[in-house]
Amino acid sequence: MLQLALFVLGAHAAPTVTLRNGVQMPMVAAGSWQYNSSAAYDSVTAALKAGFTMIDTALDYNNQDGVGRAIAESQVPREKIFVETKVPGCGMDPSMLNLFKCQEGTKKNLEKDLQLLNLSYVDLVIVHFPPIASMITRSCNSWSGGCQMVRAQWKAMEEFYKEGKARAIGVSNYCPSCFDCLKSATIQPMVNQVQFHLGMGTDPNSFVSYHKAHNIQLQAYSVLGNSLDHHASSEIVSGNLTVSIGKAHNKSSVQVALKWVVSQGIPAVTKSSNLEHLQQDLDLWSWSFTAQEQQALDTHSSPGGSPSFACNSLSASEVLV
Ligand SMILES: NC(=O)c1ccc[n+]([C@@H]2O[C@H](COP(=O)([O-])OP(=O)(O)OC[C@H]3O[C@@H](n4cnc5c(N)ncnc54)[C@H](OP(=O)(O)O)[C@@H]3O)[C@@H](O)[C@H]2O)c1
Ligand SMILES: *[C@@H]1O[C@H](CO)[C@@H](O)[C@H](O)[C@H]1NC(C)=O
Ligand SMILES: *[C@@H]1O[C@H](CO)[C@@H](O)[C@H](O)[C@H]1NC(C)=O
Ligand SMILES: *[C@@H]1O[C@H](CO)[C@@H](O)[C@H](O)[C@H]1NC(C)=O
Ligand SMILES: *[C@@H]1O[C@H](CO)[C@@H](O)[C@H](O)[C@H]1NC(C)=O
Repeated sequence: MLQLALFVLGAHAAPTVTLRNGVQMPMVAAGSWQYNSSAAYDSVTAALKAGFTMIDTALDYNNQDGVGRAIAESQVPREKIFVETKVPGCGMDPSMLNLFKCQEGTKKNLEKDLQLLNLSYVDLVIVHFPPIASMITRSCNSWSGGCQMVRAQWKAMEEFYKEGKARAIGVSNYCPSCFDCLKSATIQPMVNQVQFHLGMGTDPNSFVSYHKAHNIQLQAYSVLGNSLDHHASSEIVSGNLTVSIGKAHNKSSVQVALKWVVSQGIPAVTKSSNLEHLQQDLDLWSWSFTAQEQQALDTHSSPGGSPSFACNSLSASEVLV
């Protein structure tokens, strides 16, 4: 039994990328959004059993105790699990609308999150969104105070990092105007977690090239294409391209879509409540696309979308997320 468990655990360990501070981050993470504490406990338990080495969660998901309990009870050594979490952007938490309060509020949220997760450190913590006003102005620096909020919040992140409570710090749903605010920061964001999936092409809104040029590691969420209800999109699950390529390799359409994301060198966050799906989501490295398949996937244009709905020009439907 033990042998079997160890075998499953080692089955498809994901490769890693190296962040700008040298920390190794796995290419695939199991997410936990929209799971209550008990569902998060079950999903994280299943993910660790399937061999996931990385978990993605957020203070906002209100399930930190379930995530923490699954980690504590997993018997996987703490240092073998890469834990990523998020703290609310300025104004997302009503107590942080005011500039000064965003730094203080972020500091409090960082500590609160560690406590709820029952951990002494996390591997990566990211700011969940740009300041709330950026959702209206579509930019971090086109309104008075926007950049100041970004900077005030980032100071709390830097402090947490320097205290050794996070091995890496980053952001989510940021766009270049937000990074512009942090040009003179001592510690630069290491990661930006954004929507990215098949159908967006290899460099949507120049996001991929921008992040490469600035040495910020992009990380993809909504990798299965639906940013509205956060289920896998039918184009990806049952579309001809993913299904036919999957058939050629005895893999599922979802595996094709996930493999396409990681084949761009972009780590992926997905989620599942199903052990078999979780195992599939890690089986992305034992097989290869042909050059023709790669080309067809790279140029596929459905489902579309933009990487950072929080501060890019975008369609009205995306604003509603
Ligand atoms: N930073 C942000 O603002 C942000 C926003 C959204 C999400 N996220 C993170 O990203 C995570 C993923 O969420 P998402 O919206 O991006 O979802 P997603 O990964 O695009 O899709 C998840 C759905 O795919 C299905 N699925 C997963 N593996 C499958 C497989 N092998 N075969 C068939 N179906 C499969 C799951 O259903 P089953 O349970 O039935 O398998 C689940 O409903 C979240 O949990 C969260 O951690 C972050
Ligand atoms: C948590 O979510 C699961 C799955 O959706 C559901 O069955 C359960 O009733 C929920 N528990 C609570 C306490 O809401
Ligand atoms: C918190 O983690 C410790 C191990 O570090 C464990 O012994 C304890 O049971 C955990 N508490 C909860 C409530 O999960
Ligand atoms: C389905 O996709 C394959 C490529 O994987 C292509 O050869 C075929 O023509 C497509 N069929 C349709 C009906 O689009
Ligand atoms: C196809 O994959 C399944 C597991 O996903 C496996 O059971 C089956 O043996 C494979 N078939 C071939 C022909 O490799």
